[in-house]
Amino acid sequence: MKFITVENYEKLSKMTSDIIGAQVILKPDCVLGLATGSSPLGAYASLAEKCEKGELDFSGVRSVNLDEYVGLDITNDQSYRYFMNKNLFEKINIKLENTHVPNGCASDLKKEGEEYDALISALGGIDIQLLGIGLDGHIGFNEPDDVFVKETHTVKLDESTIEANSRFFASKDDVPREAITMGMMSIMQAKKIVLIANGKSKKDILNKAFFGEITPRVPASILQLHPDVTVIYSEN
Ligand code: F6R
Repeated sequence: MKFITVENYEKLSKMTSDIIGAQVILKPDCVLGLATGSSPLGAYASLAEKCEKGELDFSGVRSVNLDEYVGLDITNDQSYRYFMNKNLFEKINIKLENTHVPNGCASDLKKEGEEYDALISALGGIDIQLLGIGLDGHIGFNEPDDVFVKETHTVKLDESTIEANSRFFASKDDVPREAITMGMMSIMQAKKIVLIANGKSKKDILNKAFFGEITPRVPASILQLHPDVTVIYSEN
């Protein structure tokens, strides 16, 4: 594992976009595993800028996102599909049909999970997975649990996650209580993983996740077993 500390969020974003950009250059039909939340916004803006300048070509790239809230569809501006379209996909030349986000409105969420895992396999797995980390150690929406769940599955969000994510909603009551998330198998099978975190509030959980015990109570700790993880952290 490489743990890189940078001065500020701008540098974190630039480094992240350089790594993802290099992947796109090296393998123009690569599969990008993507995340939402506030951490990747700077990297997505930087990737859009590189595409605009003609430095990157996403026309052959495929993508799979980590997660989606249950019950929110593309028309809801808090859905992760909406977030991805607005913050990245509409700003680069990726084909929308090559982008995938779990469907949180599927009538059968178990089947949706199975189909999502089958889709990731059919794409040949993930070349590079971008992750953020929750204050409780979640990656995707794999919340602290007694076990690491392998498959894409539905989860009840932890109180701390609902609290943290309420900043994006009109009120805490509006935050969905459930989400569908990629499981640990697809994440751990990604060829390369980049986890980004910024702000002092993430320091403790990063220490637990990367230097503490490997336990499903700290879901990100499983990444200690992955052969190619880069953590990029900025305190400011
Ligand atoms: C989002 C996701 C989450 C976030 C995490 C950190 O797709 O998978 O695990 O990465 O909640 O969120 P931010 O970046 O907002 O601190």
